[in-house]
Amino acid sequence: MPETSGTWLSDWARNTARRLLSAELPRRWAHTAGVARRAGQVARVLPVEQRDVLVAAAWVHDIGYASVLVDTGLHSLDGARFLQRAGMPDRICGLVAHHSGASAVAALTGLAGDLASFDDERGRLRDALWYADMTTSPDGHPITVQERIAEIRGRRGPDDPVVRALAINIDDRLASVRRIHRLLRRTYSG
Ligand SMILES: [Fe+2]
Repeated sequence: MPETSGTWLSDWARNTARRLLSAELPRRWAHTAGVARRAGQVARVLPVEQRDVLVAAAWVHDIGYASVLVDTGLHSLDGARFLQRAGMPDRICGLVAHHSGASAVAALTGLAGDLASFDDERGRLRDALWYADMTTSPDGHPITVQERIAEIRGRRGPDDPVVRALAINIDDRLASVRRIHRLLRRTYSG
C-alpha cells in the first residue's frame, strides 16, 4: 500500500481506475473522470480530512465493470472486493460497495448477504458520492438527477436489476442529492 500522506489515496485511485477502465471501457472512464470532477467540486461540504476520501471513492466507484474484476456481476461488490484485496481503507471499500443504491440491486440479484460484509455508512460523505454519481452523465457531463434517472431507465431497459431496483431505492437516491444541494446552497450563500 502507498504511503499515508497528502493525496496518495486519490492519486492511487485515479491511476487504478485509468489502468482498469480507460482502454477497455472508454465511456465508463469518461463518466468516472466526470464523477471525480464533480466530487472535487462538492468536497467543500465535507470536513477537510474526508475530501480526499470522497475523490478517491469517486475515481474507483465503477472499477468493478472492468472485465478482469467481474466476478459476481454486481459491479459495486466486485469493485469493493478488489479494493479490499488491494489493502484500501474499509471506508472506501464500503462507500464503493454501497454507492448509489447498490443494496437494492443486491437484494434483487441474491447478493445482499455478500454486500452486507461491507459497511453501509450514512451521512455527508456517502451522500456526496451518490450526488456526484447521480448528477454525472455516462459521458462525464453534469446533468440533473432527473435526467440521470431517465437516462438509466432508457439505457438499461425495464428488466435490468438497476432499473428494477429504482422502485426500492429511488427515494433514497433523490434524498441524498437533495441533502447535498441544500448543503451547497448554504456553503455558497454563507
Ligand atoms: Fe457511476
